[in-house]
Amino acid sequence: MKKDLLGIADLSPEEIYRILDTAEAMREIGEREIKKVPTLRGKTIVNLFYEPSTRTRTSFEIAEKRLSADTLNVAVAASSVLKGETLADTAMNIEAMAPDMIVIRHASSGASHLLSRICKSRIINAGDGMHEHPTQALLDAFTIRQHKKRIEGLKVVIVGDLLHSRVLRSNVLLLTMLGADVWVTGPPTLIPRGIERLGVKISTAVDEAVRDADVIMMLRIQQERMQGAFFPSLREYFNVFGMTAARVKRAKQDVIIMHPGPMNRGVEIASEVADGPYSVILEQVANGVAVRMAVLYLLAGGVEDEAAA
Ligand code: CP
Repeated sequence: MKKDLLGIADLSPEEIYRILDTAEAMREIGEREIKKVPTLRGKTIVNLFYEPSTRTRTSFEIAEKRLSADTLNVAVAASSVLKGETLADTAMNIEAMAPDMIVIRHASSGASHLLSRICKSRIINAGDGMHEHPTQALLDAFTIRQHKKRIEGLKVVIVGDLLHSRVLRSNVLLLTMLGADVWVTGPPTLIPRGIERLGVKISTAVDEAVRDADVIMMLRIQQERMQGAFFPSLREYFNVFGMTAARVKRAKQDVIIMHPGPMNRGVEIASEVADGPYSVILEQVANGVAVRMAVLYLLAGGVEDEAAA
């Protein structure tokens, strides 16, 4: 692997499978009574989150602790960022304390690339603006493979706010690279122009798109990134694009329903679907720990065969 994990675009299919295979070994560590190995003992990892996060920040910290790294969470709201310090200055000051890795989430696309250019530490992108969220796509792939035993040839339908979603971009890059048949659907106002160039099929009719789907991946309506009205009302959005039990019935009998979280229940997904028998949403969260352990381990120079030692 390269020095940093900035996006799926940086990975080859072989590297993706290596991360997924390593995550299998890491998952086993999480099932032990003592969920800790000394693999990253002596390594210092800084988690620098400029945007809110529940799943990503928590699972990175659990992953780091399970690998025995020394972890530090920078509370941006209590840092000198509030006094106007730039991202570059903040990064260089953290870098001066010689961490081994920095995990960064930021509202600006390209923030992790900036750190990559100015830091010797290894940089992991935990979500940059509307650009990429690579570890989310990796844990999604891990979850799909767990259930379907493959990714190639599966019909994966991604539904919702495509325009503002870094999860969409990372998943499209990963799933098309591994040979999935990827469909995207949502309101025309929320479909990024030119997305078909990434090798996906586009539909504005959810009922048509989900027919015979193996995987339905719901995306959150990101109202915090919207300027202006992209659809008439949340109620109408749910009626036309929301994932209901009736819509799920149009997919394959063994379809799995995914959502990266946080969910807007009753907007993009009905509670009966989110909590229903086809949902793997909490499995995605659980798998996030194993996949992030694998990424940390491999970036630190680990070898797949020794992962669970
Ligand atoms: N999926 C995801 O990134 O969730 P958080 O924003 O809670 O980290």
